[in-house]
Amino acid sequence: MIKINEMEIPTLDDLQFSEKKVLVRIDINSPVDPETGKLLDYSRIKAYSSTIKELIEKGNSVVLMSHQGRPGDNDFISLEEHSKLLNKYLGASVEFVDDVIGPYARERISKLKPGEILLLDNVRLISEELIEASPLQHAKSFLVRRLSPLFDGYVNDAFAAAHRSQASLVGFPMILKSSAGRVMEREVLALSKIFNPDDSPKVFVLGGGKVLDSLRIIENLVKRKLADRILTGGLIAELFAVAKGIDLGRDNINILEKKGLLSLIPRARKILLSGGPIEIPVDFRVEKEGKVIEEPSSKVTGAIKDIGLTTMNIYSSFIKEAKVIVMRGPMGIIEDERFREGSKELLNNALESPGYVIIGGGHMISMLGSRDIESTKIHVSTGGGALLLFLAGEKLPALEALNMSRGVGK
Ligand code: 3PG
Repeated sequence: MIKINEMEIPTLDDLQFSEKKVLVRIDINSPVDPETGKLLDYSRIKAYSSTIKELIEKGNSVVLMSHQGRPGDNDFISLEEHSKLLNKYLGASVEFVDDVIGPYARERISKLKPGEILLLDNVRLISEELIEASPLQHAKSFLVRRLSPLFDGYVNDAFAAAHRSQASLVGFPMILKSSAGRVMEREVLALSKIFNPDDSPKVFVLGGGKVLDSLRIIENLVKRKLADRILTGGLIAELFAVAKGIDLGRDNINILEKKGLLSLIPRARKILLSGGPIEIPVDFRVEKEGKVIEEPSSKVTGAIKDIGLTTMNIYSSFIKEAKVIVMRGPMGIIEDERFREGSKELLNNALESPGYVIIGGGHMISMLGSRDIESTKIHVSTGGGALLLFLAGEKLPALEALNMSRGVGK
């Protein structure tokens, strides 16, 4: 049992599933190359081997469920490639089922034999999965009602999606005997350690494209005074720059507008006015007429693609003095080799600094490559948004649902 924030979350040790049919929610949502549609990082896919192997060794059969991207985005793809990679890293056969709740999936699950592993297709093909609602409401969803009668138990190992109150994450624990998986357990135990007030200064390096999530996280960090510095990059940095009154040029503003981000400016301004310890890039690396140049933030004319050299130096000096460094989301468009330097530089500085480094989000993890790092120095989290919301002291709905599930399905 994990005890945290007045919650008691059952683990696999408490439930001892054996010779059962178990539904396992994992999060293998991975960055996708927009050109080829291929996966760019396999770290989440590798992470679940321990939970799956443990269940299989105890004679259970396992059905894996995950999302990938969101409808309308170019990373909203099927899980077929993921199944081949799971196969490879697990060293066991994982059958891909091209269906989620339809007759084919249900028949395949009902015929499952001990030791077999299935991966259902992208759960976000089911539109109700995108609705955020309470566990009790989600217990009545089609997804939960159609699938739960086919299973003896449910394991939630999707720490990376634990901040979403979606049917596959919170609905099943209301019906089935449930527990956290080993990834969820490891994450919660490792991250709980940083709530120690002696571990200051704490520096958060936040970039990437999930601006709404980042803003929510920053609001929490500032409100609870949990961060000594918040170093911004990517679109969230642009949002704060505009909120501060910096003119980033028509083209960059247009991009923010197209992404519907301008409406967030008042929230960003409120954070700045409240004295939040937000650092905004003083210069950017931009692309202009096919050339890569550096421009001060106040005189940007090209398309912003990374932080500039002076910003890298300023940010690095904060990182070198930190006791805890949390990094999520890249500083620039790292898919393009010309705009990886900002993220690479900050990551190298973090790894060389004496501080404890927590890294989350597929893009930043992909930048770690295959380097060998001591596990006492770094925690590579499978989570992005979930990681930061957890560190910002928010309650994660998937953990709350597991807490509520105690006593269900006995
Ligand atoms: C993530 O990558 O943060 C999780 O997989 C959740 O994905 P989402 O932001 O699309 O809900």
